[in-house]
Amino acid sequence: MNIPSATAETIAEGARILRAGGLVAFPTETVYGLGGDATQGKTIARIFEAKGRPAFNPLIVHVADRCWVADLAEADDRFEKLARAFWPGPLTLVLRRRAGCPASNLVSAGHDTIAVRMPDHRVALELLRGVGRPLAAPSANASGTVSPTLAAHVAASLGDRIDLIIDGGPCPVGLESAVLDLTQTTAMILRPGVITAEDIARVIGRIDIAREDPAAPKSPGQLASHYAPSLPIRLNATIGAAGEALLGFGATARATLNLSPGGDLKEAAANLFAMLRALDDRGKFTAIAVATIPATGIGIAINDRLERAAAPRL
Ligand code: TXA
Ligand code: MG
Repeated sequence: MNIPSATAETIAEGARILRAGGLVAFPTETVYGLGGDATQGKTIARIFEAKGRPAFNPLIVHVADRCWVADLAEADDRFEKLARAFWPGPLTLVLRRRAGCPASNLVSAGHDTIAVRMPDHRVALELLRGVGRPLAAPSANASGTVSPTLAAHVAASLGDRIDLIIDGGPCPVGLESAVLDLTQTTAMILRPGVITAEDIARVIGRIDIAREDPAAPKSPGQLASHYAPSLPIRLNATIGAAGEALLGFGATARATLNLSPGGDLKEAAANLFAMLRALDDRGKFTAIAVATIPATGIGIAINDRLERAAAPRL
């Protein structure tokens, strides 16, 4: 697999492939995305196939500018306020599809809603402008596994199924965007992220946080088992048992790796997926024990991903 670094030339090549209906993995500030032209149904079907993603789980549509949303969705006042406050950035907004929306119905998994976001990454934005059309881009990993924060992670998981991977180095945020549903009277967080409920409430007032109903997830990304490494995960560990890797936070003693020795949640978020992958080694360990992460601010999103990683597998 060819994994060129991001340059003006490789981004232009990626844009050509995308316009022709191909699949290109590219960096965003959160995780690498597996991009395809959102307006080409066949391409979107290939994304689902490459990831092994269940057809009921809709995709986020990425835009280069807030004004691109006008064609796609019914944008209300809350959308305008939030996009102005947080875009480009790791906040995905779920809106009603507009009549005549050019995005394939497959990105919406048959619903009348569409999720949109403007990524805060130079490579992603240049690529979007080069294509000139919105790009559907789920995280560039096999469905149910840990999201990729390095180009090498994408290559390991999907390398033989896609046309190009553009290497833009490590993703600085490291956790997927927060997903906020704006289709109801009360805005609802479907997936927590580094933009927190408090940040959002400061801009639009009262919001709700989706409670888990594993039988009928509102956002299919909320399936209880997700983001799972191959080894079992044990949470709230203070010491590693024999054979376990210990993923520390702050002052954890004898950690195999530490998410943030200084106890910084932003740093821990950026390191989480790469460290889970590094420790996911059946040759060396029997399980991954993870130290307690404070459940405040960004820690809420980190704990959300860890709880899904630790949930019983399907
Ligand atoms: O940070 C991110 O969001 C990354 C980068 C590449 O942008 N993308 C990402 O995509 O994490 P994905 O497909 O792995 O997760 C998308 C989440 C899923 O939980 C999905 O169910 C939810 O967004 N979603 C997408 N469209 C939706 C819709 N119309 N209604 C409700 N949830 C939706
Ligand atoms: Mg994903």
